[in-house]
Amino acid sequence: MSHFEENVSLKAFNTLGIEARARMLAHCGTADEIAAAAELARSKGLPLLVLGGGSNLLLTRDFPGLVLRVENRGVTLLEDAPEAFLVRAAAGENWHAFVLHALKQGWTGLENLSLIPGTVGAAPIQNIGAYGVELDSVCDCVDALEISTGRRVTLDRKACRFAYRDSVFKHEARDRHVILSVTFRLPKQAPLHTGYAELRDALAARGIDQPNANDVSDAVIAIRRAKLPDPAVLGNAGSFFKNPLVSAEKFAALKVFHPRMVGYPQPGGAVKLAAGWLIDNAGWKGRALGGAAVYERQALVIVNRGAATADDVVALARAIQADIRGRFGVELEPEPVWV
Ligand code: EPU
Repeated sequence: MSHFEENVSLKAFNTLGIEARARMLAHCGTADEIAAAAELARSKGLPLLVLGGGSNLLLTRDFPGLVLRVENRGVTLLEDAPEAFLVRAAAGENWHAFVLHALKQGWTGLENLSLIPGTVGAAPIQNIGAYGVELDSVCDCVDALEISTGRRVTLDRKACRFAYRDSVFKHEARDRHVILSVTFRLPKQAPLHTGYAELRDALAARGIDQPNANDVSDAVIAIRRAKLPDPAVLGNAGSFFKNPLVSAEKFAALKVFHPRMVGYPQPGGAVKLAAGWLIDNAGWKGRALGGAAVYERQALVIVNRGAATADDVVALARAIQADIRGRFGVELEPEPVWV
């Protein structure tokens, strides 16, 4: 049986540390408990909010329904084939603990995604990515519960429709499925991804010219610790905005006025701008609105200095968006899911 609580604070369940209350909260330790809680919400006509680590979430209000906290556990090696390991991890597993566990077993391929906050089940929703690797490239399939029928379904990689910080789980499937587990295909001979300049530099600075997966993981951890705030110490939800895409023409025009603007050409001709550069260049680093502030060391991160309300965070985000629109004619899209 799930453990249920009523009229409960969600402050401890979102890494931004926003105070919002839920009418009901169910801690679900197994797939059956997840199914039972989803069915309870359905039968009572209560809105359902599925929560993993709460690290990519902005709670803008109290939640009038049932919050289902996914807490199922387990990591299983499904297949040890000549070319790849097939590994299934339960949605409730902590992402970083899973990455470290995989490395210990010799299952490589996840090292660039070290230290990303949150759970395994949340990873496909925004197609987590860092230092040149996205979940997309290692995900084999996602097992989920279909809420309306209680059926277990499997979405293969194509059905997940992964894109940059995006997937079907942010769109049509958003309120339709609860992710139960993720299966990873981890090739045995895959080359390491050390092309991302910051990672290459970090490895070189350590005097490592033939890195292994553990070296890459250690370097990624060091980079992240240096520039991203630890949510346990300073509330945050990672990058608060996506890096926006603009046309090559627009980028060229922007470069005339801003020669140092950072942009990465994409396949297909568009250019991905560094939102952090735009926000930093507009002078937002360290600026606060109520209890919410732009992080001093990385302008893409909004932090809770202790007493931020949802309204503070929303007002700060809106002010940044308006300023960036005015200065550069670029729309910034929030990365976390707003509820
Ligand atoms: N920059 C600035 N000022 C800043 C922040 C960044 O000038 O305050 C410049 C940097 O100098 C660099 C460029 O902007 O030239 C890009 O910065 P960085 O390499 O730090 O990456 P990012 O675009 O800020 C993205 C992801 C991160 C991921 C890193 C590394 C998004 C929205 N964010 O950040 O993901 O860890 O690349 O791959 O795509 C997350 O999604 O929560 C996240 C942290």
